[in-house]
Amino acid sequence: MMELQVLGPGFGAEVRGAGLADVAASDEAYAAVRAAFEAHSVLVFRNQPITDELQVAFSRRFGPLETAKAASLGEGTPFSILTNIDRATGALVPPDHKEALRARANQLWHTDSCFKAPPALASVLSARMIPPTGGETEFASMRCTWERLPEATRARLANAYAWHDYAHSRGKIAPHLASDREKSTLPPVCWRIRWRNPANGRDSLYIASHTYAIDGMSKEEAQALLAELIDFATAPGCTFLHRWQPGDVIMWDNRAVLHRGRPWPDDKPRHMVRTTISATDADGLAEMWPATTRASNDGALVRSTART
Ligand code: OGA
Ligand code: MN
Repeated sequence: MMELQVLGPGFGAEVRGAGLADVAASDEAYAAVRAAFEAHSVLVFRNQPITDELQVAFSRRFGPLETAKAASLGEGTPFSILTNIDRATGALVPPDHKEALRARANQLWHTDSCFKAPPALASVLSARMIPPTGGETEFASMRCTWERLPEATRARLANAYAWHDYAHSRGKIAPHLASDREKSTLPPVCWRIRWRNPANGRDSLYIASHTYAIDGMSKEEAQALLAELIDFATAPGCTFLHRWQPGDVIMWDNRAVLHRGRPWPDDKPRHMVRTTISATDADGLAEMWPATTRASNDGALVRSTART
């Protein structure tokens, strides 16, 4: 029997009595976990006998998998690897290394792959090596945020469209952290700012550290509003911090939560493996596309994210 233990303020649950292998093997277990995912946005599984194969078999159930993006560890495979261990030498990377800077960028509040088309439905993150202190992952519900917003703000945003760019969030950490190859393979994309979950009709605010513009607003006005909204979403009492233990796997709904990594000592290894599931029309993506081809707010020529 699957049971849920509620974890966070209005979202998040630990799943007991069903594990990744059950979901991979059984339609019934998948249906129960899928319903819990739609309802609770963040699911924690403990004591999993994790392998790459099991993580993929579980993740595949929820939809098509992303391949890790250009210039990342795991490029071209279903695995995004977050690590401070240099694969060639086995040594820890120095604090100015690209992977250390990427870990710092991951410590900004974000949702995964809003800068991709299609964006992500869900991420599945497994702990392979965890530091003795720090290195937690923190979550905030953008669905609870939407519901807490003043009515006038919701009305203002309901039909707004926002622009997302991987290079924008990386640029907050170091000017050239996003390489030319990453920039050319990940041009800015535009999505509706309100994502409605078709399973329960609940709306969430779809913005992140990657978001840099809102149509119809000056860049300054949009960036001030985005910062204000993220502060509001992640205010004390609204978040939930997960302290990793060996065997933990967390799945989260990128439509409905922000997350961020927390720092840990530079001299301690941390190694995590993520699989990411792409959103489809059945996940509410159909309503997220801009109606027409647009040019980005700063006038740059961008690939259209209009539906083809
Ligand atoms: C991720 C991520 C945070 C962490 O895997 O997408 O942001 O704590 N991880 O490693
Ligand atoms: Mn992430």
